Amino acid sequence: MKLFFKILGSLLLLIVLIVGSFLAKVQITGIPSYKTQKVDLKVEVTPERVARGKAISSMLCRQCHLDQATGKLTGHRLEDLPNDFGTAYSRNITNDPEHGIGSWTDGEIAYLLRTGIKRNGHYAPPWMVKLPRIADEDIYSIIAYLRSDDSAVQASSIPSRESEPSFLAKFLCHVAFKPFAYPDHEIKVPDIHDKVAYGKYVVQDGIGCFACHSASFKTMDENHPEKSQGYLGGGNGMPGMDGKIIYTANLTPDPTGIGNWNEDDFVKSIREGIRPDGRPLRYPMSRLPELGDDEARAIYAYLKTVPPIHNDVERNFPDLSGAALSDGKEIYHKYGCIACHGETGVGLGDLTRSKIDFPTDSSLMAWIKNPPSFKPMTKMPPFNGIIQDAEYVPLMAYVRQLSDARK
Ligand code: HEC
Ligand code: HEC
Ligand code: HEC
Repeated sequence: MKLFFKILGSLLLLIVLIVGSFLAKVQITGIPSYKTQKVDLKVEVTPERVARGKAISSMLCRQCHLDQATGKLTGHRLEDLPNDFGTAYSRNITNDPEHGIGSWTDGEIAYLLRTGIKRNGHYAPPWMVKLPRIADEDIYSIIAYLRSDDSAVQASSIPSRESEPSFLAKFLCHVAFKPFAYPDHEIKVPDIHDKVAYGKYVVQDGIGCFACHSASFKTMDENHPEKSQGYLGGGNGMPGMDGKIIYTANLTPDPTGIGNWNEDDFVKSIREGIRPDGRPLRYPMSRLPELGDDEARAIYAYLKTVPPIHNDVERNFPDLSGAALSDGKEIYHKYGCIACHGETGVGLGDLTRSKIDFPTDSSLMAWIKNPPSFKPMTKMPPFNGIIQDAEYVPLMAYVRQLSDARK
């Protein structure tokens, strides 16, 4: 017996030592590094590629890399990253050779976007997008756009700020999150006339709707989207800029999903950000005006073919039938302004700018009612017909208050 306990004791000690040294390694090495692979690539910058790359980047990159202060992709703090992961900053990806990615080769950019490994070998954590299955032509378009003379990517010498990942983030990057393999074959964009195939491509490989719209990020299968738990059945909770959780919608053709939506309803909801009942879709969903009408219809065609899942997601929509509120701050919360602009009024769009852009209350009201009439590609949805008339005055007073509070 004594011998047994001795052996058990030494085994336990050994395990403690192994685990302990692994944890120490995680703490010391931080986010892991990997060997990089040289990719020979020279993307020809054509107007068609720049236009498509701009649309893709506007859906996939802009939200994270656009700095309100510079109006360029110079990076900012990712405000909606849960604190458990530490703090993360996206980086300057303008054409500046020193502070941006002006000196990166096309191959280095493609390698990072596909695998998640930066040119110095550092792994970019999951809060940087990865596109392992997007078509080659779409990668070329993104690169062509990043090299273009669009004002958002023109060289800016603002230095990137370093992220401070928590121990948990480092640990997960050692054990759970791994880089993707660089594809060893050509990946083509399906023909748009084959609606189901094209829609499937957007949902799984291009924009990757399935990641947010399946049961959970924890149980999604990045390499085989259809094997994700609750594939496209919704219910995945994610925080807005205010930390409040919004659950994704069920996109399967079940009555609890989009089973009763017609094609036009669907197209309007994703391109304009307005549900058939008139409610604007809330962040982290955004209106996707960059999608062509034919692309949106292809997505609908594909979603109609996926296995229906009965999942009546708890949506927590605000009560729109109640009496008008009179407190500006409560109205700002009620309509989810806070989910995009945060408590300080910055977030995705900077309310301090409204002093200059919309100096009069009538111009400010016109913006809130219908932002796309000013900027067709904006991510802010129209609130016309949603916010009660009597609520505009207190809401606008609160917007002014927030913008004055910041210098
Ligand atoms: C969800 C937020 C998010 C999205 C979306 C996103 N990025 Fe990033 N990106 C980051 C973060 C955070 C980093 C910093 C990662 C690090 O340094 O570990 C980063 C780093 C980068 C870098 C490396 C720059 C450097 O100096 O190391 C490039 C290039 C880049 N992103 C390009 C893109 C492109 C192109 C897209 C769209 C296809 C995109 N990103 C989408 C958050 C994002
Ligand atoms: C970043 C995560 C994310 C991504 C990516 C995303 N969605 Fe969403 N989506 C959401 C959330 C969250 C909601 C719920 C919004 C709400 O309740 O107001 C939503 C709602 C919707 C709705 C409204 C359905 C309803 O019943 O209200 C549709 C339609 C939709 N998304 C389609 C798409 C499509 C198509 C794509 C890909 C092109 C996509 N989404 C990508 C997070 C996302
Ligand atoms: C889905 C995200 C989202 C929601 C919800 C949202 N906004 Fe915005 N808002 C934005 C973005 C993004 C911009 C930046 C404009 C642009 O360039 O597209 C913006 C810009 C603005 C501006 C103009 C700032 C400037 O650039 O001059 C005002 C004012 C504003 N929002 C007020 C509101 C109010 C009030 C609400 C609630 C009723 C609200 N927003 C809800 C995303 C949102």
